[in-house]
Amino acid sequence: MSETQEIACDYHEDQSFKGEKLIYPAASRNKEPILQVLKRFILCDNDQCDHEVPLFLEVASGSGQHLAHFAPHFPHVKFQPTEVDENLLGSISYYAQTCPTKNILPPKQVDICAKLSNYGFKENSIDYIYNANMITYGPYSKDGVITPESNVEFHASLKSRNPLWGIRDINDLVKLAEQNNLSLIDTVEMPANNKTLVWKKD
Ligand SMILES: C[S@@+](CC[C@H](N)C(=O)[O-])C[C@H]1O[C@@H](n2cnc3c(N)ncnc32)[C@H](O)[C@@H]1O
Repeated sequence: MSETQEIACDYHEDQSFKGEKLIYPAASRNKEPILQVLKRFILCDNDQCDHEVPLFLEVASGSGQHLAHFAPHFPHVKFQPTEVDENLLGSISYYAQTCPTKNILPPKQVDICAKLSNYGFKENSIDYIYNANMITYGPYSKDGVITPESNVEFHASLKSRNPLWGIRDINDLVKLAEQNNLSLIDTVEMPANNKTLVWKKD
């Protein structure tokens, strides 16, 4: 990379940069609490995994900060960042290349609405799939009730931008997961009225 700039930006700003090291304030705040959850669920003993070197795939890596924070804590795991927005691949690459434990692969451009096999991932090749602030970590409603008021407003603002967006209800996600052989095994309360949902393949 010829030039590295540190650019702080929020999620909803225009991100028409290439090749810079991006810093999302939200990712800076939540990376440590999320790491503490991962430490409970990532196996230390590779014998229990399907693969000698377990593969951890991140959906929607954004700036790339999260894996940069997690990877040094799990040197026995290989991390694969992915992101649909090609403008973000430069920042993700920067974090991958500068990771001291060298266990972050170059990012792949992946639209998670498509099949992972379209991107060369073989069936049962991935041991862990992680996502933050697109669906699996973030605010949720339960039994149709959104709390607190700030999340009600966030839901309304998402809906006004795109009727398909919005805070998801955990019950709906459980139903969808069941259709895909996934079970919700834990719901972890996180700072700032967020939750981490932990799913396991049946
Ligand atoms: C709020 S950001 C979260 C980024 C990062 N996970 C974090 O927590 O800092 C949401 C990200 O989802 C990505 N995204 C949106 N739709 C996607 C899709 N269909 N497939 C993959 N990524 C997607 C966006 O490009 C954006 O980088």
